[in-house]
Amino acid sequence: MAQIIDGKKISQQIKDELKEKVESLKAEGKSGALAVIQVGEDPASSVYVRNKKNACAYIGIESLAYELPEDISEEELLELIAKLNGTKQVKGILVQLPLPKHICEDKVIQAISPSKDVDGFHPQSVGAMTIGEPGFLSCTPAGIIQLLKRSGIEISGKRCVVIGRSNIVGKPMALLMLREDATVTIAHSKTQNLKEICKEADILIVAIGKPRFIGAEYVKEGAVVIDVGIHRDENHKLCGDVKFEEVEPVAFAITPVPGGVGPMTIAMLMNNCVQSIEED
Ligand code: GUN
Repeated sequence: MAQIIDGKKISQQIKDELKEKVESLKAEGKSGALAVIQVGEDPASSVYVRNKKNACAYIGIESLAYELPEDISEEELLELIAKLNGTKQVKGILVQLPLPKHICEDKVIQAISPSKDVDGFHPQSVGAMTIGEPGFLSCTPAGIIQLLKRSGIEISGKRCVVIGRSNIVGKPMALLMLREDATVTIAHSKTQNLKEICKEADILIVAIGKPRFIGAEYVKEGAVVIDVGIHRDENHKLCGDVKFEEVEPVAFAITPVPGGVGPMTIAMLMNNCVQSIEED
């Protein structure tokens, strides 16, 4: 039986630690708000945004919700961001992605002041992470590092394969594992011999974006498997990128979907918000 890495429990521990920290910051007169911007009414985005607002309420920081119409212009969105950049009480700005096609995501990400970039998506934040300078870390990869550390899994010296090369998961994930002294390979949809490469991994991080893609034939006996995917299957049930039932017996430890990586993303977003309040 593999160890099931309980992201719900670990994220709860982190949020409880942050709640205490927020209280002591308040006693020092330090507080702040997270501005959460959603454009349009994508149902998945609405769930994420609601969860983020609830997490703010739980740890005791204010959240300001901006629900903007689908047809808002890029210019109007950039104006709102500029206003929030200049608002002292706003310590974090989050624009829920994806954005409608007529708005350039890169432009929006770059408009957010790096000092309020709690998603860690701004090129300055990414650059700082790459060279090990202080800055906000991308929440999902930072959450995975916490999952591993708090589950007692050694990273240093291990062979790690990350499947996926997106700017918000795959690339920062590989860099953070490197920072923890793992030997890292990034694989992706064009990788040849994907199975053979995955089978070398002591730690396999799957962010391929394809439901139940990774079966037992990709996994070395005794590996740690982290599943970043989240999808609805044909029966409308949540599933990840990994065939859990098939991989679990082979693995030393594995994250479930739901209840694995997902809750950690929000916990690390809260961590970034608290860091921003603290640094102010
Ligand atoms: N869309 C999917 N994941 C994320 C995330 O971590 N942050 C933002 N802003 N949008 C997302």
